[in-house]
Amino acid sequence: MAVSRSTTDRQRAAAARQAAAAARTTGTHPVAGGAPTSAPRPSHPSAVIEFRGVTKAYDNTTAGVHDATFTVHRGEFLFLVGQTGAGKSTLMKLLLKEMEPDSGVIRVAGRDLSEITHKKVPYYRRNLGVVFQDFKLLPNRTVYDNVAYALQVTGASRKQIRRQVPDILRLTGLSTKLHNYPHQLSGGEQQRVSVARAFVNHPPLLLADEPTGNLDPDTTIGIMQLLYRINKAGTTVVVATHDEGMVNRMRRRVIELQGGQIVRDEVAGGYGRDSESTAEFGALMRGEPSPTPQRLRQPSEADLFDDAFAD
Ligand SMILES: Nc1ncnc2c1ncn2[C@@H]1O[C@H](COP(=O)(O)OP(=O)(O)O)[C@@H](O)[C@H]1O
Ligand SMILES: [Mg+2]
Repeated sequence: MAVSRSTTDRQRAAAARQAAAAARTTGTHPVAGGAPTSAPRPSHPSAVIEFRGVTKAYDNTTAGVHDATFTVHRGEFLFLVGQTGAGKSTLMKLLLKEMEPDSGVIRVAGRDLSEITHKKVPYYRRNLGVVFQDFKLLPNRTVYDNVAYALQVTGASRKQIRRQVPDILRLTGLSTKLHNYPHQLSGGEQQRVSVARAFVNHPPLLLADEPTGNLDPDTTIGIMQLLYRINKAGTTVVVATHDEGMVNRMRRRVIELQGGQIVRDEVAGGYGRDSESTAEFGALMRGEPSPTPQRLRQPSEADLFDDAFAD
């Protein structure tokens, strides 16, 4: 009897911990996307990222990022370009709070990152989906488990995991690869897993540092279309890449770094972006003419992911 009572107590305590974790999770990143609800108000209501005079030097001769000032608004798709060594990854690491700036202010969803204590950093990072050039998948876990793990660490319930993981794997075109291990996948498929993992929480902000750096041009287009779809669903997306030729065709906002300094901040051209389909986006990337006439309509939530993998 004593044993069974204490087991029940332990189960109750575990359930309470899980509920508390779930409540924290819901508070810091709403699953439907959009800005975090519990964060203080940004200085500009739709600002997701604000850099104000941010400098980070590694030593006297190496400027990581120098005096960077820019604002990224909710729903933007931003390309961060510049040659190797320009400071793109430094800027991403500052955003992830992997390092602190020497001077200047960085705000994300209105929150000054310097005020986030060491203990709170993991909660802050739950708002960010992150994709890297080298995928960073767990080699001894299946596709399903790699994505499930990202949810587990946020305290998601088993029920949530059982529902959300197959959903996101379907949306990223991986339904037939659930039980495969990373080494059994192509580079493009591995990057899809890493995008699925980054997006399974529906974070309000997704950062991708050279996500297509290891991929061939056709596979690159598939990954970029996936990021485009994620952006259309309401997530703000920042992609760092040295492939400036591709970016210049995209008619998206481009911030260019050179030796740590912003030398260009070009707002997207007057293209009917809201009416652009994934196929049209892909055609732009290939430098081809638009495959279908532009339609003047706003995308609805329902059609955001419908044909994501049709092309
Ligand atoms: N951990 C580090 N220690 C010293 N210098 C670094 C470090 N990381 C990056 N740098 C230097 O900072 C500059 C910017 O690097 P980085 O942000 O990685 O550029 P990018 O991602 O655009 O290639 C480069 O000159 C690089 O050598
Ligand atoms: Mg880099």
